[in-house]
Amino acid sequence: MDSIIKIKAIAMGNNKTRISLSREVIAILLGMLFSGPIAAEKVKLDPANWGHEAGADCVSCHAKASAGLTGQWRSSAHREAGVNCMDCHRAERSDPDAIEHEGQIIATIVSPRDCGRCHTKEFEEQQGSVHAEAFALIETRLPALADNVGGPAMRIASCDQCHGSRVKVLGDGSLDTATWPNSGIGRINPDGSKGSCSACHGRHGFSKAQAREPDACVRCHSGPDSPDKEIFEASKHGMIYAARKDAMNLTADTWVAGRDYTAAPTCVTCHMGGAGKLPPSHDVGMRNVWSLNAPVSERQYLVLLEDGSKMELPSTAQVPRRGSELARADGRVAKVKVVVTPERRRQAMSMVCLECHGKGFTRGFMDQFDGVVELFNDKFGIPAKRIMARLYAEGLLTPTPFDEPIEFAYWELWHDEGARARHGAAMMSPNHAWWEGMYRVGRNFYSDFLIQARAAAGPRSAELVDSVLEGLSAHAWLADPDRPSPILGLDDEETP
Ligand code: HEC
Ligand code: HEC
Ligand code: HEC
Ligand code: HEC
Ligand code: HEC
Ligand code: HEC
Ligand code: HEC
Ligand code: HEC
Repeated sequence: MDSIIKIKAIAMGNNKTRISLSREVIAILLGMLFSGPIAAEKVKLDPANWGHEAGADCVSCHAKASAGLTGQWRSSAHREAGVNCMDCHRAERSDPDAIEHEGQIIATIVSPRDCGRCHTKEFEEQQGSVHAEAFALIETRLPALADNVGGPAMRIASCDQCHGSRVKVLGDGSLDTATWPNSGIGRINPDGSKGSCSACHGRHGFSKAQAREPDACVRCHSGPDSPDKEIFEASKHGMIYAARKDAMNLTADTWVAGRDYTAAPTCVTCHMGGAGKLPPSHDVGMRNVWSLNAPVSERQYLVLLEDGSKMELPSTAQVPRRGSELARADGRVAKVKVVVTPERRRQAMSMVCLECHGKGFTRGFMDQFDGVVELFNDKFGIPAKRIMARLYAEGLLTPTPFDEPIEFAYWELWHDEGARARHGAAMMSPNHAWWEGMYRVGRNFYSDFLIQARAAAGPRSAELVDSVLEGLSAHAWLADPDRPSPILGLDDEETP
């Protein structure tokens, strides 16, 4: 891990000058944003790590006890390489979840750290990714939604299944059913590691071909929290992927866009995969500039800290200087080692596009996308947030979330409709950018949110609500009586 950060730091030090896609900068980007070998080089694993002698017993009994599971393992790359049940399930007696089973000490949970015994590179990238933080996200931010509007049983069956649970081990080593089964992306494991590799690599096949398909992602990336399934399927990329799946070379040993396949990109291509000289990484999110699922989107710096951890900071905040100290989310203080700007993250994403598209096309597309995010922020996100803050500050709304209708209107404005508009523009679905997205934002804002905000503010609505919109040219049409009205489906003579 240490050496990865070092490579990144050196790369950063070498490049204090401008950004253009020169070969030198590409090399720097590679070293800085991504670790490990280029896709073409396969990591050599040490065979001394597997072939546990008790494995044969597990297989022979489980061929009857759980024939399906054992059959999945039989057709896996692990079986082919000689990796058996014990190589993954073995445990130390001192492990919190160790159980004695047929004369062996095993654990049911095979955590990312256990996989990392052999797959170090993937383990380190995955532990450093936003995926690994997905439990902290729900633990601290939204108990109000999960527990109040829903209830504990729903939290277990929904939020936790995508974000992850904190797995609890009972006194006898068995797993508390309120927390397991679960393969959420940021699950907290009994050994302290985060996430679950079988979130994407279905067990017991653990195949890379299967994980390259969009289906590996869309169990979680669908619906209001992250509408990417619908968006990808509606995009030209999704259309070509569906039509030409057999040209995608999904079972290839390496999978580099532009070299191993060219037909269409999938989620993995853009967010994880190798492309030209850009190496693959299990650290999703490195190539993303914006926080798209927020009341107001921010461009984000990526800050690498001396202790090996990372954090994202909005680019409106002061740029932290190298060597300065930052408080992490958990309260610990660490020194800043490297700051990656939003522009560089954009460059990395653009390198993927450039395998199949031209430079002008790629830049043009990114301008169009950024334009939608800025439109959402300036026209709806910022004003709505400001109005809500005033209503709370004046005691015109109770501090309890989701006990008043306007709170649902506001929430859906940015969380459901606003996210769809922004994701739709980011990933090329015009339908989601407009009809499922910004159109619904506008409808909510003008026909629901503002009405309720004025009702809550009562006689003070000019001061607390309408003053926020004053001077914003995007809303000027509301006050312009002569502006021709759209013909809402009426004939000319029927409109005023
Ligand atoms: C003699 C038959 C037999 C042998 C040998 C055996 N198992 Fe099992 N195992 C079972 C049966 C039956 C169950 C399901 C009932 C249970 O959970 O107790 C089970 C359950 C399990 C579970 C799930 C435990 C849980 O938390 O529900 C795991 C994991 C497991 N076995 C792994 C192994 C491994 C690894 C080995 C090799 C060391 C092994 N088994 C050897 C019969 C066997
Ligand atoms: C590459 C590592 C790996 C190998 C090899 C492996 N397992 Fe597993 N196994 C896992 C993971 C990961 C889980 C998911 C547990 C969790 O983290 O929630 C699991 C879960 C299980 C479970 C409980 C979950 C369920 O679906 O009931 C059983 C039983 C089990 N394994 C048995 C076996 C047996 C028997 C073998 C050998 C034929 C085997 N495993 C080989 C990684 C492995
Ligand atoms: C179908 C899977 C799924 C379910 C169910 C789910 N989430 Fe999410 N959630 C996601 C994904 C994926 C993201 C990441 C969105 C992104 O970054 O674009 C996310 C983002 C978030 C965020 C950060 C962005 C935001 O919206 O504020 C919070 C907080 C959150 N979820 C809380 C919850 C809670 C609480 C529940 C249950 C009431 C829940 N989620 C249910 C998949 C899910
Ligand atoms: C977000 C989904 C996701 C998660 C979580 C995930 N993987 Fe992967 N993994 C993939 C994808 C997609 C590929 C294929 C990438 C490619 O070929 O570019 C892959 C490939 C691999 C490979 C093959 C690498 C090679 O070069 O042949 C290994 C090994 C692997 N993953 C291990 C892990 C381990 C260990 C974990 C947990 C620490 C993990 N993965 C978690 C999606 C995931
Ligand atoms: C004891 C060593 C060991 C452990 C533990 C281990 N693996 Fe593997 N894994 C291997 C070997 C060996 C291969 C096959 C050679 C290769 O692909 O490099 C492999 C291959 C893979 C592949 C590529 C499969 C393909 O389609 O080509 C994936 C994905 C993977 N492992 C995921 C995991 C996950 C997830 C875990 C934990 C649940 C895990 N492995 C645990 C040794 C291990
Ligand atoms: C088990 C659920 C689950 C699966 C499977 C999953 N994700 Fe995620 N993903 C999440 C959650 C939850 C978040 C939000 C995490 C956070 O913000 O901490 C997220 C966040 C992301 C982000 C946003 C990073 C950022 O910058 O905010 C990207 C990109 C992403 N996932 C891509 C993928 C891809 C590609 C796959 C499939 C190969 C995948 N995910 C599979 C649940 C999942
Ligand atoms: C053609 C490339 C491409 C494909 C294919 C693609 N994405 Fe994206 N994705 C992007 C871009 C570009 C962004 C916006 C990045 C930024 O913020 O600068 C994005 C944003 C996201 C985000 C939002 C992260 C945030 O900041 O909240 C998530 C989550 C995500 N994608 C997941 C997926 C999933 C899941 C799939 C497949 C169903 C997918 N993407 C397919 C290019 C792609
Ligand atoms: C593996 C190749 C590949 C990659 C990588 C790729 N695309 Fe595409 N893209 C295509 C194909 C193929 C089409 C469909 C072209 C057509 O027939 O109009 C397409 C279509 C598009 C379209 C619709 C254009 C139109 O004229 O309708 C946009 C926009 C787009 N891509 C943007 C991007 C962006 C932005 C990225 C990077 C984040 C990207 N693509 C990455 C192959 C790719």
